[in-house]
Amino acid sequence: MLNRTVIAHRGASAYAPENTLEAFTQAYLMGARWLEFDVMLAACGTPVVFHDDLLARTTGQLGCVGDFSYPVLATYEAGAWFSPFAAGARIPSLEMVLHFIKETGLSANIEIKPLPLQAAATVKAALAVVQKVFPKGHDTLLFSSFCMASLRHLRAALPQGLLGLLMHDVLPDWESLVSELNPWTIHLNKDILTPDFALQIKRMKKGLWCYTVNDRASAERYFDWGVDAVFSDYPDLLSR
Ligand code: G3P
Ligand code: MG
Repeated sequence: MLNRTVIAHRGASAYAPENTLEAFTQAYLMGARWLEFDVMLAACGTPVVFHDDLLARTTGQLGCVGDFSYPVLATYEAGAWFSPFAAGARIPSLEMVLHFIKETGLSANIEIKPLPLQAAATVKAALAVVQKVFPKGHDTLLFSSFCMASLRHLRAALPQGLLGLLMHDVLPDWESLVSELNPWTIHLNKDILTPDFALQIKRMKKGLWCYTVNDRASAERYFDWGVDAVFSDYPDLLSR
């Protein structure tokens, strides 16, 4: 179980364009030991690390990630929106990011963010890449999702794997989902976190992670409530 840990949310996304190798490298250099990133499928079936369904916000391109093959996505500018100094950053494939994880020895939270009707395909493709890069396994790769179908596919494929149940709003059936999926961790939107909710989760002996926390005072307060880790755009959150 982690203890008062800061997880680099989409990499060091306050300092470099989110979900790029530049943001992951920056997080590593700042001392992060856990990275979080989002995975969806390109049109060719390659898992790519990207947050939005639409390309517009971070690349300025029209259309959806799933409309283009990875060789095309890889040509898109993914850094200039963040800063002119970040121009040249690209959308990485999951395989590229996992090689970075392997080289650095970092731990990772792979968030499966399937496009509509792609839960099974996204999980299958992501797990195939994980198996390729880590044929002997990796002790600290955690898979999370807001998508319950994705979590069910993950649990079926990885009976002993580390799963994280993500909740943006309180799900009415969250306790039965915990029983069914046996997640290692529960990841809450900070806006639904309360001391009582934290206590309830800790009594279930689950890790409690909270997103997205970008000020130190809030992080310290949540840790005092029992939160084990916070996702932050600032890997240096606790020393700022
Ligand atoms: O996994 C925590 C956080 O990343 C979930 O929200 O939208 O940033 O992927 P989002
Ligand atoms: Mg995410």
